[in-house]
Amino acid sequence: MTRSFEKVGVVGLGTMGAGIAEVFARAGLGVTGVEADPAALERGRGHLEGSTGRALAKGRLTEAERAEILGRVTFTTSLEDLADADLVIEAIPEVMDFKRALFTDLDRICKPSAVLATNTSSLSVTEIAATTARPGQVVGMHFFNPAPVMKLVEVIHTVTTEDGLAEEVAALARRLGKTPVSVGDRAGFVVNRLLLTYLNHAAVLLENGLATRDDIDAAMKLGVGLPMGPFTLLDLIGLDTSYEVLCVLFQESRDRRHAPAPILRELVTAGLLGRKTGGGFHREEEPGGPPPTAKPSVGSVAVLGEGAEELAAKLADAGFKTASAEAADVVVALSRNPVIELAAGLPRPKRLVGLHLVGDRIAEVASTALTSSEAARAVEGLVRIVGRTPVRCKDRAEFVVDALLYPYLNDAVRMYDSGYATIEDIDSAMKLGCGYPSGPFEMLDELGLETVRDGLRALYAEYREPSFAPAPLLDQLVTAGVRSIRDLP
Ligand code: 3HC
Repeated sequence: MTRSFEKVGVVGLGTMGAGIAEVFARAGLGVTGVEADPAALERGRGHLEGSTGRALAKGRLTEAERAEILGRVTFTTSLEDLADADLVIEAIPEVMDFKRALFTDLDRICKPSAVLATNTSSLSVTEIAATTARPGQVVGMHFFNPAPVMKLVEVIHTVTTEDGLAEEVAALARRLGKTPVSVGDRAGFVVNRLLLTYLNHAAVLLENGLATRDDIDAAMKLGVGLPMGPFTLLDLIGLDTSYEVLCVLFQESRDRRHAPAPILRELVTAGLLGRKTGGGFHREEEPGGPPPTAKPSVGSVAVLGEGAEELAAKLADAGFKTASAEAADVVVALSRNPVIELAAGLPRPKRLVGLHLVGDRIAEVASTALTSSEAARAVEGLVRIVGRTPVRCKDRAEFVVDALLYPYLNDAVRMYDSGYATIEDIDSAMKLGCGYPSGPFEMLDELGLETVRDGLRALYAEYREPSFAPAPLLDQLVTAGVRSIRDLP
């Protein structure tokens, strides 16, 4: 029997629930939105009106279309109104006890054929299903923030899900204009397992003082082409949600990289949850300002390392005097690796600054323990002169971009190697769920497996973090001379 999904219920109308309700209504389904009390219900209605209002203002919806979409949604504080829904999806807070209580009620109220879905970010769908008398009809249907925009829906089946149901729910996701990726029930599924590990790593590096919030954000946005830097994204997701997802990941993996960075707990406890509270890593009232543009006053510059001639020529064109390392006021060492050894060999090590050009838009400016602040500032200015954004950081293995990117790629290889998801599914999940310009396996091909493997070895040597060691599969591919993981038989 193929089910027909025409009437759906959405329980919880926060940012995600309201977005999900909008997605269903836009696809022509009748939606009953449920909240716990009248005030929360009004906020939920406000989310929907606001979001469709923005679309109207941008000319993406007509007044009539907007009215039609809103007309498909009814609002209630009573779960009993879901009695004839074909599918109910919940987007309530990520607390297992709340979810279990809700599913017990839904199981009692909803008609026997109804499918019950959870939008949980990471909790066990199997455990939620087990509270009902219909575990075969319980699935995960995981949307991404902002739900009306992001194209991915992860469809999660458990060991008890009825045969064929995950495919029917995937077909429903396609009807909503989304692309489904179907996987089994593991903490964090595909996207959050990879994404939150990376976001938490960024928070840990911030706490370690590797670089500032804005430098790390700029590094990942401009250096990798991600739609948002990690701290802007954490604020979008919500620090409370991020914290909870990490706790669930840690509980399953016992990998300390999933232990939430203490700064997350601090901000959550302070009520700074991100955009929804007007402040998280970024505060709304913060003054912004254009970066300094003044030409740095540098007597002479020496450029060392691979690509030195090209950079020296650009600086000479811009009117700077270039000289040998011994004679120069500032020494720029182009390097992928820490430069402290080089600095220590110079008569005046405080003049040496490491520089790593990443892509076309940024340059990591690495200060060693001996670098003077004048030299670092001068090199930041030089970087701007050659048309790049400087990312200031400490002199550590792989600096910022590669330190964050390579472990994420390594995690994707491990995930594939575990048999949890295919290369294609992992790539499309990260592109469609997070707006990444390419998936991790596409990035691996572009960067070269050996480069990433060697970078991971350097990270492991520096930080001694066990999960930075290259995944055995990655190591083997490099040893075997295989150029792309896709070339595996
Ligand atoms: N609701 C509806 N539409 C929205 C929206 C919202 N909250 N936010 C943005 N949009 C629309 C805009 O109206 C615009 O549409 P248009 O092009 O037709 O005019 C479009 O999205 C692009 O928006 P903007 O031009 O304002 O801004 P950006 O180009 O910066 O895009 C973004 C915003 C789509 C959020 C983009 O920055 C992005 O893709 N960021 C990454 C988001 C991400 O990673 N999400 C996943 C988080 S993980 C998650 O949700 C899982 C959970 O379990 C934790």
